[in-house]
Amino acid sequence: MLHIIRTAQEMQAHALRQRLAGKRLGFVPTMGCLHEGHLSLVRAARRDCDVVVVSIFVNPLQFGPREDLAGYPRTLADDLARLLEVSADVVFAPAEGSLYPAGFATFVEVTGLTEGLCGARRPGHFRGVATVVCKLFNLVQPQRAYFGEKDYQQLQVIRRMVADLNLPLEVVGMPTLRQTDGLAMSSRNRYLSGAERQAATALWRSLEAARRAVAAGEHDALAVRRRVTETLRAEPLARLDYVEVCHPETLRPVAVLDGPTLIALAAYVGQARLIDNLVVCPASVDTPDAQGRTEAAASSSRQD
Ligand code: PAJ
Repeated sequence: MLHIIRTAQEMQAHALRQRLAGKRLGFVPTMGCLHEGHLSLVRAARRDCDVVVVSIFVNPLQFGPREDLAGYPRTLADDLARLLEVSADVVFAPAEGSLYPAGFATFVEVTGLTEGLCGARRPGHFRGVATVVCKLFNLVQPQRAYFGEKDYQQLQVIRRMVADLNLPLEVVGMPTLRQTDGLAMSSRNRYLSGAERQAATALWRSLEAARRAVAAGEHDALAVRRRVTETLRAEPLARLDYVEVCHPETLRPVAVLDGPTLIALAAYVGQARLIDNLVVCPASVDTPDAQGRTEAAASSSRQD
């Protein structure tokens, strides 16, 4: 049974009752038009938590004046059917006025991390994201909230906000789900015509080209960027917005790849602005494994 909640007040009261009953709440914020990428977050929440809440809200605060707020796909009936299939418990789908009543005047601004990448291209975007996610956290009161690495900068911004504001929850980052040809799943893929859909694979192909170059020994960030630019330029229907080679936590551009490094890009394909990213690791760098051991330490412990 899917419980649909339409107002902030009802959401907060429902969450409070669940918390008082000792339930563990998992939360997946979305803007709807759900695809397998979203559903992978819901499935993870289902595995970890007693009550799974999914929000569907196209947040006007995070769209710029010339962006796709009006045209953003709204597919609530389909979304509800999918959420039923993956056994979500609660869908929070508030009207705009319920989250932003007249007189609303308070915002959450994460500095630093929001300066580059999409933050530089979409002024006010992350202020809108941080504000709505902070409000949603206060309404849903989850112990765990799930975000996709597809929106890498967003995930870092949310982690920063949660740490800086002492929000009592754990942020869980989940890997990007892709179509078989590598295109990252996105609600905005709906904007693509057949030919554009084909062209959109250039984003992933360019990241793969960069990864291969790095694996083959390329350490120079400029050369890595060039790999991406060249691959995208070869696709006439795609237009690069930005590509950056950055530190995976600070998101500051690096000149030399000397550890795990984020390659993040945005490109227009037709009307759609698509983003993608990949964390690459230079061939010669000895990085910690899942247990935090370096390869040298791991092989010496294997010999023990
Ligand atoms: P939306 O674009 O609907 O994405 C909701 C969540 O799904 C985000 O955490 C996003 O990173 C994740 N997601 C999207 N595509 C994915 C994919 N291919 N694989 C894995 N996860 C994917 O991001 C937003 O909405 C909004 O900014 C929001 C956080 C809801 C605030 O309004």
